[in-house]
Amino acid sequence: MAFYRRDLEALEAGSRLRSLTGRRGVDFSSNDYIGLATAPRMVAAVRRALGDVPIGAAGSRLLRGETEAQARFEAEAARFFGAEAGLGFGGGYVANFAVLTTLPQRGDLLLMDALSHASTHEGARAGRAEVARFRHGDVDHARDVIAAWRAQGGRGAVWIAVESLYSMDGDRAPLDDLMVLADEHGFLMVDEAHATGVFGPQGRGLAHHLEGRHNVVTLHTLGKALGGSGALICGARVLVNFLVNRCRPFIFATAPSPLMAVAGLESLAILRDEPWRQASLAGHVAAFGAEMARRLPQVPVSGSQIVPLIVGPDAGAMALASAVQARGFDVRGIRPPTVPEGTARLRVSLTLNATRGDVIRLAETLEELWPDT
Ligand SMILES: Cc1ncc(COP(=O)(O)O)c(C=O)c1O
Repeated sequence: MAFYRRDLEALEAGSRLRSLTGRRGVDFSSNDYIGLATAPRMVAAVRRALGDVPIGAAGSRLLRGETEAQARFEAEAARFFGAEAGLGFGGGYVANFAVLTTLPQRGDLLLMDALSHASTHEGARAGRAEVARFRHGDVDHARDVIAAWRAQGGRGAVWIAVESLYSMDGDRAPLDDLMVLADEHGFLMVDEAHATGVFGPQGRGLAHHLEGRHNVVTLHTLGKALGGSGALICGARVLVNFLVNRCRPFIFATAPSPLMAVAGLESLAILRDEPWRQASLAGHVAAFGAEMARRLPQVPVSGSQIVPLIVGPDAGAMALASAVQARGFDVRGIRPPTVPEGTARLRVSLTLNATRGDVIRLAETLEELWPDT
């Protein structure tokens, strides 16, 4: 026990002790970007299915866990996103881990953006391929790393792993330039976790124009803008079949709840029918950006629904988060190791669970509470 206590004490001394805190205040921290988690149509779809569709899948997909709801969702989602095939997972974390430990082979290079999500790092660590990182968003550096690897005899495929919209910085990957590299050297794996449902025609993501290519794999999470939980891998049929046969986190796990497949199917229908949701969120982003530029011009904003407001020191970021929370806004502080050292921040997440008035009031409050430097 002493080890665990000491570790927690050290975290506390460094202002890094985490604890679970419930929902309080207006939502400026969830990933429920377009408000689908509680949308009446989603609730009604799940309610209609209750009793008919089982709550639990009761087995692995390869055994009794295969359900009509899941198969229908995957087929429809693949069509919606423009991919040849789709495969569901219990969540985005496990989907990243699953793909990166299964598709890149020994002799390949897994090349990831330095700011990739923890699940990508874990998948890389546990996988078979050699691993390298390139500077965040820097395609020239990615090209140099590949060239150095080839010069040292690297002959396999290169798997380039990026997020289309970065979860802690709210900026975008240079997908088209990375695609050129992938076409020369192998594959592009795009984690669309924070872009699905928000960007692209009908919310089909920032990589919508690349879907369907033989060497592109995308990950769409269902737990963020789509308002449910789980994830979907989209890609070429042969890659999906390979996952079904070789991916241990897929084979040796209970299938996701079929009710989440029902929710997923409804979320896609809502994306098609209700484009106002994307437009309204874009309005929030523009309004917050304009207010911040006027009130706190020294603090840059991202131009997406994820707005990192960098404070710097851990304690300063957490103190500011507490002060903003005390005014009724649920904004969370994010510290290293989730983000790089010296970049502790408030991660403002703009969602349709807040009104335009709330968005303006948050900017006013930030102006008032922002620490003097
Ligand atoms: C970029 C990115 N990928 C994957 C995940 C994991 O997805 P999930 O929450 O569905 O496990 C997250 C969630 O935080 C994320 O931000």
